[in-house]
Amino acid sequence: MSEGDRRPLRAGIIGTARVGSWYDDLQAGTPELIPSSHAGCYAACPRTELVAGSDLDPERLERFGKKWGIRALYADYREMLANEALDVVSITTSWGHDHAAIAPVVAESGVRGIFCEKPIATSMAEADRIVRLVEQNGVKFACAYLRRWNPRYHALRAAIDSGAVGRLVSITAIGAGNLMHAGTHYADIMAYLAGDPEPAWAWGRIEPVPPDAKSPTARVDPVGSGYVEMQSGVRFFLEGVSPGAITFVVSGTEGKLMVFNDARRADLWRRPQGSSDRWLEPESLPVPPQTRSPVLPALEDLVASIDAAVDGSDPSRQPANDVRRAARAMELCLALHASHRRGGCRVELPLEDRELSVDTW
Ligand SMILES: NC(=O)c1ccc[n+]([C@@H]2O[C@H](COP(=O)([O-])OP(=O)(O)OC[C@H]3O[C@@H](n4cnc5c(N)ncnc54)[C@H](O)[C@@H]3O)[C@@H](O)[C@H]2O)c1
Repeated sequence: MSEGDRRPLRAGIIGTARVGSWYDDLQAGTPELIPSSHAGCYAACPRTELVAGSDLDPERLERFGKKWGIRALYADYREMLANEALDVVSITTSWGHDHAAIAPVVAESGVRGIFCEKPIATSMAEADRIVRLVEQNGVKFACAYLRRWNPRYHALRAAIDSGAVGRLVSITAIGAGNLMHAGTHYADIMAYLAGDPEPAWAWGRIEPVPPDAKSPTARVDPVGSGYVEMQSGVRFFLEGVSPGAITFVVSGTEGKLMVFNDARRADLWRRPQGSSDRWLEPESLPVPPQTRSPVLPALEDLVASIDAAVDGSDPSRQPANDVRRAARAMELCLALHASHRRGGCRVELPLEDRELSVDTW
């Protein structure tokens, strides 16, 4: 079937506020990242047509309707799912517990694809349910851990895969912050850079919540740090406490990759060829500029996965951050909480305590 023969996929959004609808209005300083709102991406993608939205807040819903010319507006997302024959649905509500409540209903509603904000849930029991229902219903699922679609991180992964640091030994992430809100992003990108190995065990330490914490995230989702050993032998170190820019150190048998400012700069330090010297020498590692929003490629990947299933060309194709990888990012961070609660002991993975729940906004 040619592109022109296909009808556009009917899209709806649950949570029609900042990320769902008006995020692009805040992006004047980085026009290359527009569109980054889910609504803007549906409008920009030739394969999708935004037809409906749902929000509990009538003022936000009305504003969304006016902005995008949408008349099918619902206070109750279940009604939207029942009435609108949607092919793809974004879940852009704010809390993890809302994602956990909404995603299973959407997965069983007959849609072909879900584009879900992170984290997808608060506990592994909830995440397991989402994974099961998404897979049972043959739904394609993309979670917005967006660095998976960022060319800067693609360049880092290509360098690691081509042996730039020799055999990969460890990845350290510095400044991971609130574990579920931001730490899951770091956990996900460490997993990506390491080729998504299976985790073996973890230990962690959770910082006390400051008594004057004001933001919802800071109150319920503490900062944490920890260590995860993967079955491949690669180690992840998550340092949660430093403030500032997103920083990684990728360490291998032949060198180190120092990654600064969310991968806007990467310095490769390598052992000189044929040298047994323990000193390293710097080399530049060019990282491409991000000339495009990573949200649109995420949606395009989801749409391509739906299309490949419908036309039979690649039924097993999944978006780069699928439901299992989204659940894995949560599990690595929840494992640090589980370890802390047991006095800093080693906890085995998969996590035994599937009910352990940490919400975030
Ligand atoms: N992927 C990223 O890099 C990234 C960046 C920023 C935010 N986020 C995530 O995006 C999500 C949304 O953030 P935001 O800033 O847009 O939040 P927001 O508060 O601006 O919007 C959420 C909206 O969801 C609505 N809502 C809540 N429950 C609902 C329900 N049951 N039915 C319908 N509507 C409901 C709320 O009324 C609100 O209008 C969060 O999970 C946040 O962590 C991700």
